[in-house]
Amino acid sequence: MKHIAILLAALLAAAAPSEARKVKKFVHETVEIPSVEPQIIAVETANTQLTLSVKENRRVELIRYGSKLRSPQEFLGYEGVTQEAYPAAGGTLLTENALHVKYPDGNHGTELRFTSFSTKSAGGVNTTVIGLKDYVTGLEVSLVYDAYVKEDVISARAVITNPGKKDVELENYASSLMRLEGDDFLLTHFHGGWACEMQTSRELLDFGTKVIESRRGTQATQTENPSFVVSLGREFSENSGEAVAGALAWSGNFRIAFERDETGRLNIFSGISPFASAYPLKGGASFETPEMLWTFSAEGAGGASRNLHRWARNYGIYGGGAVNPTLLNSWEGAYFSFDTSVLTGMIDDAAAMGLEMFVLDDGWFGTKYPRNSDRTSLGDWEPNTDKIPEGIDHLASYAHGKGLKFGIWIEPEMVSGVSVLAETHPEWVVQSPGRELYEARWQWVLDLSNPQVQDFVFGIFDRTMQLAPGIDYIKWDCNRPVYSFGSTYLGPEQDRFYVEYVQGLYSVMRRIREKYPSVLVQCCSSGGARVDYGAMKYCNEFWTSDNTDAISRVRIQYATSMIYPACAMASHVSAVPNHQSGNVTPLKMRFDMAAAGRLGMELQPKNLSSSERALADRCIRSYKGFRDVVFGGDLYRLSDPYNSDYYAFMYVSEDKTKAVVFAFCLRYQNRAGGGHPFALRGLDPSRKYLVTEQNVDSSCWWGDGKAFAGDFLMGGGFNPVLLQTNSSAIFLLEAR
Ligand code: GLA
Repeated sequence: MKHIAILLAALLAAAAPSEARKVKKFVHETVEIPSVEPQIIAVETANTQLTLSVKENRRVELIRYGSKLRSPQEFLGYEGVTQEAYPAAGGTLLTENALHVKYPDGNHGTELRFTSFSTKSAGGVNTTVIGLKDYVTGLEVSLVYDAYVKEDVISARAVITNPGKKDVELENYASSLMRLEGDDFLLTHFHGGWACEMQTSRELLDFGTKVIESRRGTQATQTENPSFVVSLGREFSENSGEAVAGALAWSGNFRIAFERDETGRLNIFSGISPFASAYPLKGGASFETPEMLWTFSAEGAGGASRNLHRWARNYGIYGGGAVNPTLLNSWEGAYFSFDTSVLTGMIDDAAAMGLEMFVLDDGWFGTKYPRNSDRTSLGDWEPNTDKIPEGIDHLASYAHGKGLKFGIWIEPEMVSGVSVLAETHPEWVVQSPGRELYEARWQWVLDLSNPQVQDFVFGIFDRTMQLAPGIDYIKWDCNRPVYSFGSTYLGPEQDRFYVEYVQGLYSVMRRIREKYPSVLVQCCSSGGARVDYGAMKYCNEFWTSDNTDAISRVRIQYATSMIYPACAMASHVSAVPNHQSGNVTPLKMRFDMAAAGRLGMELQPKNLSSSERALADRCIRSYKGFRDVVFGGDLYRLSDPYNSDYYAFMYVSEDKTKAVVFAFCLRYQNRAGGGHPFALRGLDPSRKYLVTEQNVDSSCWWGDGKAFAGDFLMGGGFNPVLLQTNSSAIFLLEAR
């Protein structure tokens, strides 16, 4: 027996390829893979490091993502459990894959091996490109890592090239894989629905795979946002401990898989959803995946959010960080019922209250089928001369004459069942042959994978801009998901539909930005159904939610702030009872909540009493005095509204000379008196700050109007008395 065991071991040893340098092809043929000098590649920002290792057998492996080590090169001889940086289906891979290719001969196997490595630096970004190739089929992949040095953000994407003559099929094509080490991983992700987007969910990740995804086509972020925070440990930690946040820059179907593998480590695969999207990659063609953004912070989720916000202001949001105007939007104040005098009345009131822009929302277009409800007219973008006989240019110049900017709403990706466009171009509608065209909000989606439709959609924007000289702002809406997916244009290549819809959208957005670099664009999709860093490359802000209720906004804005910065978060004061939730909240609370982002109003100002008007004027005026900190400052969340009866947060200017604190009481505090201590954060401990409560005659804090040292304010001295449900306060802090 002993002899047999030894013989077997010897035979096995002889059969095992030495470090897999020879790959067997069809039993007897082999492809030579020359060995390479091992090396460590470190992708670095100011405080973080992603370490990869190239093995002698050309496997490229992820070693570590975390705080910056002095000499990552010491990992050169590292022995331990590692993970391929971009594992492809085939070879020895038995778990989730980043890449799955089907070749023309029907085979599925791919094994990517190192070919090249290059770096370059420009504009505060260090780019590392790692070349990989399958030595049998020749398929190539470049892993591109852009390290945003100051912001501590790393963007990862893959470029997949088919150098052969025949098409291959990409069954799965992730943007990135990240591997995290730790004993426990607490995932925070953001689920929701219409008017309740971005609800926070927290769960410990156990063995197996947890997936967050969207298959809505358009409106990809309504039910789940392509972003998350992973706390390394059992608890969510806002201010300390290690946290990794990620966000996929893609406005279509996505899939993010959190795989706790057999070793207990966490592998996070992120990218476009492969659902119905086996992408045909032509011979000689390349496919570039969307970017996946990563940040690591040793200052908990708060630190991770601040990194992403800084990146977004500097790179991720069109015009990011600039102050966008306050506005009055006509929607909740007028809906479809307006004429010129209603609108000019609103413009008069907006100007009188100190707002800076008027936005004409839905209902201004359609001649054969006038848009008097949401049942008709999308696609027919000529102004309705019955409602506004003087024309849009009259309204725009009326607003400009009052010192206001002028904006207008469009929903260019859609067509109503009742419209001239649906009569003339039924083939442009997203559809599956022979199947029912399901309507949602009485409308269908236009097929943006079709270049003719892309031209048409660009034309809608372009012609709207010509309706009046100096249109300052476009609200771009998108109010339904894709049902019965399919394209009359794509013929047998229906697998390209979901991907090319989004690429078509981005191509239209690029053309718009070339022609109209300075128009402000709001990205709206039934509220917050398109809040992602793919769309934000072209848009100045997003409509956070159709839910304008200040109580609902506590949770929506709290979660939004985890990933997206306040400069892009549009937040409006509306009437009570709230049109969505029915809640009745004080006007002060509604202003205080809206002032945490880009403040606007969305009601009929004529319905405000004179005392409400006076408060509105005051709140708008004070907002202009501190909004620079909201738009450009660092956010510190002081409490978690899911676990506290108070919700408080603050923004601090980068030079720490100015800060603004927001505090809300969410539940009646029956232990009257005393006040609630909030330990402020992010201030300069040794500087004195003058603290002034905004928008009140009599402050809820004893220290109002006095100057205090930063360490006192951060050390428990700040305790405003907010006892009643829905009472709120804003404090401005100015360094002396
Ligand atoms: C969507 C938007 C709203 C409003 C309406 C108009 O629901 O989210 O803000 O523009 O469409 O129909």
